[in-house]
Amino acid sequence: MKTLAPVIRPETPAEDAAIEALHQHAFGPGRFARTAFRLREGVPCDPELSLVAMIDGRLAGSVKLTAIRIGEAPSLLLGPLAVDPDFGSRGLGRALVRAAAEKARTLGHRSILLVGDAPYYGPLGFHHVKPTEVIMPGPVDPNRVLLCELVEGAATEAKGPVRSARGG
Ligand SMILES: CC(C)(COP(=O)(O)OP(=O)(O)OC[C@H]1O[C@@H](n2cnc3c(N)ncnc32)[C@H](O)[C@@H]1OP(=O)(O)O)[C@@H](O)C(=O)NCCC(=O)NCCS
Repeated sequence: MKTLAPVIRPETPAEDAAIEALHQHAFGPGRFARTAFRLREGVPCDPELSLVAMIDGRLAGSVKLTAIRIGEAPSLLLGPLAVDPDFGSRGLGRALVRAAAEKARTLGHRSILLVGDAPYYGPLGFHHVKPTEVIMPGPVDPNRVLLCELVEGAATEAKGPVRSARGG
C-alpha cells in the first residue's frame, strides 16, 4: 500500500471534532484536570499556532501552542501533542513539534514551555527548568517541565509564576 507524505498545516474549524476525538483517545477524560489544560482554558485558539498533520485527507496528528506568561515574559505553552496510533512512530510527532516551533519563531515568539517527557522533547531543543524559577500554577512533576528557547537568552527572562495569557 502506498503511504502518502503528511501535509502539516494550520488547523481549520472543520477539524475541530476530529481533533477532540484524537485528544479523547490519547489522554482520556482526565485531561481536563491537568495543569496544562487549565492554563489553556478560555484562551482563544490561534489557528496560526495550531497545526495538524494530514495524511490522505485523514487527521493523523495535532499540536497546539497557546499564549502564556512566565513572570513578565510572554511565552507559549505547547500541547496537547497527539498522533493517531495508526500513524505512530513515523516521525509525525517530532515533525509537528518542529513545525510549530518554527512557525512560532517566525512570528517573533521567544520561548515554548511544555509538560512532557525529556527523552522525547530533549532532542527537539527542550531542556529542564528549575521549579523555583518556572513556577507552575498547579501540580506537575517538576522533571517534566521543559522549555525551548526560540531566541537566544529567552530562558533567562522566562522566570516566575506561569499564568494564562487571559490573566488567570
Ligand atoms: C507521544 C506521541 C505524540 C508520539 O507521536 P509519534 O508520531 O509516534 O512520535 P515520533 O514518530 O515522532 O517518535 C516516535 C518515537 O518516540 C518515542 N516516544 C514516544 N513517546 C515517548 C515518550 N513519552 N518518551 C520517550 N520516547 C517516546 C517512541 O518510542 C518512538 O521511538 P522510535 O522512533 O525509536 O520507535 C504519540 O505517541 C501520542 O499521541 N501519544 C499519546 C499522547 C501523548 O502522550 N502526547 C504527548 C504528551 S507530552
